[in-house]
Amino acid sequence: MSLLKLKLLVLSWMAERCLSAQVVHLDRFTFTVDDHALFLSQSAVLEQEHNRSYLSGHMMINRLVNDITLTSSMDIIRPRRPEMRLYNVKLNFCSVLNNGYKNKFIRLLYNNYAGFLNTKPKCPLKPNFNYSLTRAFVDEDLLPDLLPECTYRFRASFEQKSKPLAHMQLDGRLVAKVGRSN
Ligand SMILES: *[C@@H]1O[C@H](CO)[C@@H](O)[C@H](O)[C@H]1NC(C)=O
Ligand SMILES: *[C@@H]1O[C@H](CO)[C@@H](O)[C@H](O)[C@H]1NC(C)=O
Repeated sequence: MSLLKLKLLVLSWMAERCLSAQVVHLDRFTFTVDDHALFLSQSAVLEQEHNRSYLSGHMMINRLVNDITLTSSMDIIRPRRPEMRLYNVKLNFCSVLNNGYKNKFIRLLYNNYAGFLNTKPKCPLKPNFNYSLTRAFVDEDLLPDLLPECTYRFRASFEQKSKPLAHMQLDGRLVAKVGRSN
């Protein structure tokens, strides 16, 4: 699936189903290393404060890494409804990092998160560099007025020439924001 299609899908999902004010809660974050020889160190910390979820973490690798493929999916689960797969994509992660900043959608995403990262990551990823993320959160004001409450599951896995490097999963909820009506 192309990035444009993904963007249209996500936007239409938001427009159709997300019509009340929301807070994006993250309940669980896991980052699992598959290639133990590659990672020198990594960590992830999830903090809940004032109904907001903050994610921090870091990673250090021990060699240059290029040609990374990202496979990612997002499912939403609503009460008494079948689970819905919002998207499932496989893309060249390095080309997103290295060229994607020219793409409006990536730039928008990136600008929202740039402040949480200590660098603008580019491929090849550098050895012995501490890539870190500090208290990242989803600014709900950037979302259009959103959703009946639902649960989401986001998965991403990283591979280099079909060899798994690491994968992660985020489980959370979209919760109605207090003080704003639907
Ligand atoms: C957090 O959310 C709960 C329930 O939605 C609400 O009662 C409480 O006031 C909120 N707390 C803060 C600090 O916003
Ligand atoms: C990397 O940076 C993080 C966040 O700043 C820090 O907590 C961690 O100790 C650092 N790790 C190494 C190995 O330098």
